[in-house]
Amino acid sequence: MKGILLAGGHGSRLYPITLGTSKQLLPVYDKPLIYYPLSVLMLAGIREVQIISTPDDLGSFQRLLGDGSALGMFLSYAIQDRPRGLAESFLIAADHIGNESVALVLGDNIFHGPGFARLLQSKVRDVQGCVLFGYPVSDPERYGIGEVDDQGTLVSLVEKPERPRSNLAVTGLYLYDNDIVDIAKNLKPSARGELEITDVNQVYLERGRAELVSLGRGFVWLDAGTHDALTEAGQYVQILEHRQGVRIACIEEIAWRMGFIDREACLKLGGRLAASPYGQYVLDVATAE
Ligand code: DAU
Repeated sequence: MKGILLAGGHGSRLYPITLGTSKQLLPVYDKPLIYYPLSVLMLAGIREVQIISTPDDLGSFQRLLGDGSALGMFLSYAIQDRPRGLAESFLIAADHIGNESVALVLGDNIFHGPGFARLLQSKVRDVQGCVLFGYPVSDPERYGIGEVDDQGTLVSLVEKPERPRSNLAVTGLYLYDNDIVDIAKNLKPSARGELEITDVNQVYLERGRAELVSLGRGFVWLDAGTHDALTEAGQYVQILEHRQGVRIACIEEIAWRMGFIDREACLKLGGRLAASPYGQYVLDVATAE
């Protein structure tokens, strides 16, 4: 399975912070926001990822992550010159996807919870149709919303409903079989002029090939799109990391634990960052056991 990490957009809800930089490069406590969605793909076992961003920001991501080889990954980069919708990413990344299945993760989404890596790995193994992940929220009018019946079967999907029929938000992590490329090619822009991810998912739903996996109450899903959300996400990570002594979304640790890199490579990554507590943590991880 291939991965796409969509990290474009204007970040206008975070102005003036994002006038000079990309939202996905902003710090969430001890690391850039993009580390969180990247770690999701890594935990799923996906090593080939295309990062899509704006013409202005793409170079910054390349400086930060390079070709991915230090992490045992294969990172490529592509430009979205205007935010024409999340589903445009499948057109931009069509060559990258080739004839494989694909996972799309939004660059501002943070996932954290028990058993998540195992859940992901079981879901990416053989994607038939599309797999969406639902999460209960208190403000459903802000999200794509899924409605499930008593058996947990997905029955409807609506983007930012005025009168939501459920509180189950469709999170920014989507798994698709290879039909996605054709489906995206045939999409028409919505009233707001975007290629909507919800329209893609609707096609799968109509074909009876859409699954909504509910992420339970013990799970944390955050998007860092507003000043409050960004601050709260940082506070959440800070509290958890202080309390437990482990780091969330430490991509070097994940690369090492997933077997993408060996101990020596992990030590090298930690050494480069050793002036910070984050780097010390990477060194500790690589020397433990
Ligand atoms: O976060 C989950 C939600 O993401 C879903 O529940 C919705 O169904 C989905 O439409 C999306 O809603 P948002 O209102 O959060 O989408 P937004 O336009 O803010 O874009 C999400 C991220 O993707 C944001 O960081 C900017 C980036 N983006 C967005 C567009 C439209 C791009 O990189 N390119 C784009 O063309």
